[in-house]
Amino acid sequence: MQTELKRILGQNEWSRRDIATLLDLSDPADEALLFQRAYEVKRQQVGTRVYFRGLIELSNVCIKNCYYCGIRRANPDVDRYTLSEEEVLDAAAFAHRSRYGSIVIQSGERTDESFIAFVEHLVRRIRESTNNELGITLSLGEQSESTYRRWQAAGAHRYLLRIETSNPGLYQTLHPQDHSFHVRLEALRTLYRLGYQVGTGVMIGLPGQTSEHLADDVAFFKEMDVAMIGMGPYIPHHGTPMNEAIPDWSARKEEQLRRALRMIAVVRIQLKDVNIASTTALQAIDPTGREMGLQAGANILMPNLTDTQYRTGYQLYDGKPCLDENATLCAGCLERRIAAIGETIGYGEWGVSPHYKKKKQSSSALSSGVSPSRSAVVSGSPL
Ligand code: 5AD
Ligand code: SF4
Ligand code: FES
Repeated sequence: MQTELKRILGQNEWSRRDIATLLDLSDPADEALLFQRAYEVKRQQVGTRVYFRGLIELSNVCIKNCYYCGIRRANPDVDRYTLSEEEVLDAAAFAHRSRYGSIVIQSGERTDESFIAFVEHLVRRIRESTNNELGITLSLGEQSESTYRRWQAAGAHRYLLRIETSNPGLYQTLHPQDHSFHVRLEALRTLYRLGYQVGTGVMIGLPGQTSEHLADDVAFFKEMDVAMIGMGPYIPHHGTPMNEAIPDWSARKEEQLRRALRMIAVVRIQLKDVNIASTTALQAIDPTGREMGLQAGANILMPNLTDTQYRTGYQLYDGKPCLDENATLCAGCLERRIAAIGETIGYGEWGVSPHYKKKKQSSSALSSGVSPSRSAVVSGSPL
């Protein structure tokens, strides 16, 4: 395998087959070569400074029924909660005080007017109370164009919406009939058109997902020209229809983690200067999973800011870490973990990916219609 691996690593362009070969590596020495290459690319393209995005899990109420997700509407064993305005502002103030640079507000999907207005209000209040210094990313699912516009006008500038898989057929096996791949894709396109910095991603190791599917996901990221990517291993949740879909999970989970790490490495090498998150799901399989993600090429971490009383309520998969650790504990813990692998933290910076900056520079050279406030937003706050 080493000669085949070296041949692939020696080429600039990889075929679908080449990517699938890398994703299927099983020898730890081969994997180490792949990770080393990914780390070199990371060092050159984005550096070894990790950016924090403080994660606020706004609500576990969801109108959707994704077969893989623990907080799906049909799961009766979830204590549903929605944070109060004060709780969200407290979490944002913590992020601001800790100089995190930006926060992500994530939630189950809701499209009713009271939720839309609540988010709009929250975004405004956070901007005001943090002196416009805190970057605001939303991760609130598929919404109408007018909703995306309202939230953007209130001050949100990034949006995370995972495509989950770029294969429409596979997507359909993971979702009920009334969930549509095309609606998801259209939502992503709308976000781009409106000028959000868009992040997307997939789950890795889904039942029925082949290495070729994942190779197509890499091509999808390239085509969509994404600035941020969040990917993690698929992990079964006991209260979902897909719980039994991976037989013998405890024997397979180690490989599931390694496969996710190989995917991160491949995406780093192919997409080069984008932001890639080392997701919490990696740490649900191995206590050091998020460090492994950074070492495989990721450069973003999302420390959880949600108050511990709600953390158990927001379990998309089993084994979610840090259920009892509050934001201060997690912050200290992550700081030590990052130092242990010889990296530093980009405190007080938005951490806009070099990819997005370059793209923005070339587009503003073409058009002069960028307002002063928008250009401040996209070029990152100096703080
Ligand atoms: N395992 C891993 N990731 C999951 N997500 C939802 N359920 C699971 C699971 N069982 C991910 C989806 C979603 C994100 C918020 O969490 O990719 O987009
Ligand atoms: Fe709801 Fe998102 Fe879970 Fe689907 S993945 S059930 S939309 S929270
Ligand atoms: Fe939460 Fe370590 S990251 S306690």
